[in-house]
Amino acid sequence: MYNVRKINDDIYYLGANDRRIALFENVYPVPEGMSYNNYLIKDEKTCLMDGIDESVSRQFLENLTYALEGRKLDYMVVQHMEPDHCSVIPDLFKMYPEMKIVSSVQAFKMMENFYHIDTKDRSIVIKEGDTLSLGKHELHFISAPMVHWPEVMMTYESTTGTLFSADAFGAFGAMSGNIFADEVRWDHDWRDEARRYYVNIVGKYGPQTQAVLKKASTLDIKMICPLHAHIWRKDFEQILSRYHQWSTYEPQRYSVAIFYGSIYGNTQNAAEILAMKLAEEGMRSVMVFDTSKTDTSELVSRAFQYSTLVFASATYNAEVFDSMQNLLTELKNHNLSNRTIGLVENGSWAPMAANKMKAQLASMKNMKIVDPIVKIQSSVSEENLKQLEVLAKELAANTK
Ligand SMILES: Cc1cc2nc3c(=O)[nH]c(=O)nc-3n(C[C@H](O)[C@H](O)[C@H](O)COP(=O)(O)O)c2cc1C
Ligand SMILES: [Fe+2]
Ligand SMILES: [Fe+2]
Repeated sequence: MYNVRKINDDIYYLGANDRRIALFENVYPVPEGMSYNNYLIKDEKTCLMDGIDESVSRQFLENLTYALEGRKLDYMVVQHMEPDHCSVIPDLFKMYPEMKIVSSVQAFKMMENFYHIDTKDRSIVIKEGDTLSLGKHELHFISAPMVHWPEVMMTYESTTGTLFSADAFGAFGAMSGNIFADEVRWDHDWRDEARRYYVNIVGKYGPQTQAVLKKASTLDIKMICPLHAHIWRKDFEQILSRYHQWSTYEPQRYSVAIFYGSIYGNTQNAAEILAMKLAEEGMRSVMVFDTSKTDTSELVSRAFQYSTLVFASATYNAEVFDSMQNLLTELKNHNLSNRTIGLVENGSWAPMAANKMKAQLASMKNMKIVDPIVKIQSSVSEENLKQLEVLAKELAANTK
């Protein structure tokens, strides 16, 4: 069966959902599945925007055959060479012998490395500023290096004002028929997963994302077509302003997220007490996370969302507790910066967690550690209670 929808003059969405997938990229839990989008432009020439993941390639090929209505495929634009959009290239190559692939030099090189196909006579090499006419429609290529692969090109179709944005503006989660962002309660139902997607997949490359947002701001955009999740045809500010915040590492919520790593529950106890005291200080939407329980991708996403972060960790073999260590490593890898920080450590014989966490935070940009650092020996003492109270006051005072 086909799953095709006309979305604009001569432009068709061909979509497939993978609802069985557990981990996107074998890393990120996707309990609501994953969507993969393709677009077909049917002009004097036919042009396919990107391919799809292996897992849903059958659906995609049916969609494409249906949407082409017997016409041949002239072009396939490959905006980046990641296998979740490229695994069908060898099949398409055989199925459509006249098809030419339109892509960057760097992508063609990767294509050879991935699929060992000879694209020599069937390639159109494009770079930033190049155009390709399909008849009425004209494609303009825009380079978007490291958003999130080095060779990413976005494509602006000038007749309809459509920006094909590659992986930018995507989200985790399968779609359910409503393929436009204005057909769902995006802010309520999708924003968190869009942030988790951005932060984990692109988050490291804030400045590069800023650069491409700047380029996009010069275009007259009527529609944004990403490779995952919803198409935007209005309220662009909603997604663009979020991307601006996320890519500048600006928090969206001025409140406290507490992350704890605890073996026996005493560090957790300190985290719960601190949360209560923060509430008494007037902080709202405080969140507490067990780093061993909540997936790191969600923790990293929350760290991007919140202005003030508390790391509370037991000492483990003279190190930070494993799941907390994992979180700190990921935060550094994603270049998180500009946060207010509180620290709590625990240990029964040689507590080390606070100093170890401090050293790692020092290697990140503009992380302001607020005193006091609460040091627990085995379980929360009377003295610790007082310290937690002072820490709550200080964190509240430092969170505007
Ligand atoms: C495998 C293991 C290694 C540990 N290593 C240390 C250590 O190096 N230094 C220390 O002071 N405590 C160490 N501890 C003890 C815990 O950090 C300590 O009991 C702490 O109070 C536990 O806090 P919790 O109740 O939040 O789990 C270790 C515990 C375990 C199980
Ligand atoms: Fe990608
Ligand atoms: Fe992708």
